[in-house]
Amino acid sequence: MTNAFKYLLVGALALTLPASAVSAQTKVGLLLPKSGNYAALGEEIDAGFVMALEEAGLADQFTIIREDTEVKPPVGVAKIRKLVLQDEVDVVVGIVSSGVLGAVRDFVDGSKVPLIVANAGNDHATGSACSKYIVRVSFSNGQINRPMGPWMFEQGIRKVYTLAPDYAAGRQMIDTFTKSFSAAGGEIVGSEFTPFGKTQDFGPYLTNAKSANPDAIFVFYAGGEAISFVKQYDSFGLKADIPLFGSGFLTSPLYVNAEGPAAVGVKTALHYVPTLDTPENKTFVGAYQAKFDRPPSEYTVQGYDSGRVLIEAVKSGASDRESIASALPKVKYTGPRGPLEINPATNNVVQNIYIYETVADGDALTQKVIATVENVKDPVNGCVMQ
Ligand code: BEZ
Repeated sequence: MTNAFKYLLVGALALTLPASAVSAQTKVGLLLPKSGNYAALGEEIDAGFVMALEEAGLADQFTIIREDTEVKPPVGVAKIRKLVLQDEVDVVVGIVSSGVLGAVRDFVDGSKVPLIVANAGNDHATGSACSKYIVRVSFSNGQINRPMGPWMFEQGIRKVYTLAPDYAAGRQMIDTFTKSFSAAGGEIVGSEFTPFGKTQDFGPYLTNAKSANPDAIFVFYAGGEAISFVKQYDSFGLKADIPLFGSGFLTSPLYVNAEGPAAVGVKTALHYVPTLDTPENKTFVGAYQAKFDRPPSEYTVQGYDSGRVLIEAVKSGASDRESIASALPKVKYTGPRGPLEINPATNNVVQNIYIYETVADGDALTQKVIATVENVKDPVNGCVMQ
């Protein structure tokens, strides 16, 4: 539709509809992977986002335009440019990969469009490269992994070997864990990064890890790579001798049943598990289970909370890019994951981190919370919010 025709149409509608109904329409660009290694994560975030709008009875007040990043930074840049410049969205929601977030950061900041990050943990986006227009409701790579260093040391683990995919998220997650484990007194006895999205055979990496003779192995893998890694860890015989730890995406409820018994006993950290025993979470899990016949995951909650913070911002009177960007960091509530607020010094979420063990529950696998670290807030990390 041409812009001239669009303005004529809006003008005509304004004559027939109450002004509030027209001005309340918010155009959302939902920018998620719908193909590639993280496609299932994107679908789950999308479902959570729509669930928040439907639950609030506001689905018809938001127009959603969907684009696929394919988990490729240049594609992410092309798609966000299209959403902002051609579709003229009021707000962008999404981004799963830290690599894509790093690539779109300057365009978001320069075009002054609010971006609600619904997954990508890239530390720089709420650190040295922070922006008034980037608000993250998911997690940062540092936030998830920092508590695991001292906690593993307290469990008597002294020597750790690390593995992760070779891109921004893998590097940052391992970097934070390495620092926090070393600061607690532990030693990293070896580390490797596997080609991202291309490694099907983890055998050579697992052989190297085993020969370093660690007390434990700590990893970050997500999506299809997590399923392959956990299964091969067991089938190559490491599970019997060396306990496996990591960031909780490794054994996400989204795909843990595809990992099967290989995942039992793995201990990881995350900002949400569906087994949290709170009234807010029970209501959320019940509603999701009724709709999809399976428990929600951290990805669902990230999409859901992206929807909720946007709704809260719009309800507070925000209607255009600038007012939405200003309203988002003020939103605060207790939801399925527990208390949630945005630190205005970084625009990153402040939240609990749960350390959980994957355990068998009949034929299925579930999450047993073994420690909670409350209100984890990132350091400012060089952020100067303008
Ligand atoms: C990331 O690239 O930031 C990421 C992807 C999947 C799960 C967690 C983090």
